[in-house]
Amino acid sequence: MTGRHDNRDTLVSGEENRAMFGAIALRYDLMNRVISLGLAGYWRRRAIAFLDPTEDGCYLDIGTGTGDVAIEILRRRPGASVVGVDPSLEMLALAKTKARRAALAGSISFQAGNASALAYTDASFSGVITAFCLRNIEDRRAALSEMRRVIRPGGCLVVLELTVPGGRLLRMLYRVYNRTFIRLAARLLSRGNAYRYLVESIEDFPPPERVTAMMSEAGFEQVRHIPLTGGVVSIFVGVRV
Ligand SMILES: C[S@@+](CC[C@H](N)C(=O)[O-])C[C@H]1O[C@@H](n2cnc3c(N)ncnc32)[C@H](O)[C@@H]1O
Repeated sequence: MTGRHDNRDTLVSGEENRAMFGAIALRYDLMNRVISLGLAGYWRRRAIAFLDPTEDGCYLDIGTGTGDVAIEILRRRPGASVVGVDPSLEMLALAKTKARRAALAGSISFQAGNASALAYTDASFSGVITAFCLRNIEDRRAALSEMRRVIRPGGCLVVLELTVPGGRLLRMLYRVYNRTFIRLAARLLSRGNAYRYLVESIEDFPPPERVTAMMSEAGFEQVRHIPLTGGVVSIFVGVRV
């Protein structure tokens, strides 16, 4: 399916994306807490629960940004190991500092890379997770199929993403919140730079049934959609058989 639900109007190129996240890196964590009304950490923990990491597992966090998901996996399972991949060197530098401060640097490797062309061998991870990142990826089909390729049989992919709630009333309220509060917070905190695109990219992200269809098309099985907080955020889970 093309058009609105493929988000082609609001997607920016990989190079623009890297520059955009590079420009907001220092304010990203604050911005994230403000626009999620403090819920981002809770949403990430819920997503990690679906990944269900084990002590001897090795996990890939795609679009790791400032590393919160990667670090949380290790807080939950100190014996596991995590690779966090992201094209933005600025975001990765902050992630590395956070991991060092949390004394977790030995179990995490932060690497530059792109979800659509992962530099890892087939079946090299116990599971893959990606939080608030799929929306930004230009070639989502290629990315989903790469994610499947690097997961061992039996492992799963967990996608956490901002979505538009399904019910009419909630959707209307959410649009007002998105177009006023988020837009204002974004303007103030990012000085009107990168976050101008955030509002549109959330509204143009494919609806949940389209995301689950894309995951099935990429070869994932037992694909599920779990809405959180009235559907303003969704978790998508698929198993690599
Ligand atoms: C909104 S941030 C999310 C960061 C982090 N996962 C979190 O939970 O806060 C999106 C991240 O995806 C990264 N990103 C954008 N395009 C990407 C791509 N094609 N492959 C991998 N990461 C990408 C950006 O650089 C950015 O760090």
